[in-house]
Amino acid sequence: MTTTRRQFLTHASALSALAAMGIPDSAQPLHASQSASEPEHPGHPAATLRAAGVAHGILVGCAVKVRLLRDTPEYAALVREQAGILVEENAMKFARLRPSPTTYFFDDADYLVQFAEANKMKVRGHNFVWCRELPQWFEGYVTKANAEQVLVEHIEHVAGRYAGKIHSWDVVNEAINLEDGLPDGMRNLPWQKLLPGYLDIAYRTTRRVDPKALLVYNDYGIEGEDEGSRKKRIAVMQLLKGMQKRGVPLDGVGIQSHLSAGPKHVYGPGLQAFIAEAHQMGLKILLTEMDVNDHDLPADIPARDASVADTYARYLQTALGHSPLEAVLTWGITDRYTWLNSDQSRSDKLPERCLPFDADLQPTPAFAAMVQALRATSKS
Ligand code: XIL
Repeated sequence: MTTTRRQFLTHASALSALAAMGIPDSAQPLHASQSASEPEHPGHPAATLRAAGVAHGILVGCAVKVRLLRDTPEYAALVREQAGILVEENAMKFARLRPSPTTYFFDDADYLVQFAEANKMKVRGHNFVWCRELPQWFEGYVTKANAEQVLVEHIEHVAGRYAGKIHSWDVVNEAINLEDGLPDGMRNLPWQKLLPGYLDIAYRTTRRVDPKALLVYNDYGIEGEDEGSRKKRIAVMQLLKGMQKRGVPLDGVGIQSHLSAGPKHVYGPGLQAFIAEAHQMGLKILLTEMDVNDHDLPADIPARDASVADTYARYLQTALGHSPLEAVLTWGITDRYTWLNSDQSRSDKLPERCLPFDADLQPTPAFAAMVQALRATSKS
């Protein structure tokens, strides 16, 4: 028995959000069992995030968990249907790839790259350097004397294995932390202490090993109009300009885009100016980890969904409305598996509703808001 789109789209608030935004029936998502290339009505393609991205001229996708791609068919089907670009939430982080100083674990990362290839999707690498996800053996094994060798060998092994297959590497993630009080706002992470030149070394090595991948610097907390965001944007921009001045290979900046819904959180001209400046510098701009937490909102689901969707809409209008962007990825695709629900951060302990598909894999108003924002800002 085939399920009609109408039956699939049972989420009432998603339906009304689509209608309210003037999105026609043909813009409703495909059933998870349909493939993105087989629209229900020939000549009338149903909307997916991927298709809305193609129409806009931007790659749209999401972070995934390989474990779920392997063993949860309805999740894998939704990812196949909606995403044009993937990144694994954890599988390419240092600790996951390096069970010991002399061994590598590539099963999950390999699966991701093969899944993406099989489904004609692009794939991002995330990341070589981060303050978190370092293995236990790191401390004690890595010293000032061998840090450069450890980093270079790691990048040679990993970037080398996937050379030519990666759309973009987040070579360094979150290198700025003003609170640490170091010069230029650099974060006081283990690599910084052991190898102060780690940033340049990491980018130069990645370029040498995989010349086709776009090399991205990725960071968070630079999205809002608040004072913290404003200061961090300045520090990140200085970092990017310094890299360019030193001739360090850098192709893009990743704006993580972990956002918050509610009237306190404003996204606007500061972000727009940052994007415009990066664009003028010849950098590509990617929104790499978008989600919208609803910590500050009351429990009522339709009200929460509307506010989260409104944040998606406003943010994407701001980010996409002027300079061309390379990609936008949400951090996860469904509320069922979002990292935001791993720590019950709402005071009422209710699960968050932060992504374009809810815990039943039904489209949320945020889905409609994303499709609509991509269409509204389309240059074609
Ligand atoms: C998160 C993952 O989603 C979690 O599963 C993991 O426990 C911690 O890391 N910024 C980043 C991502 O750059 O790597 C983080 O991913 C989320 C914040």
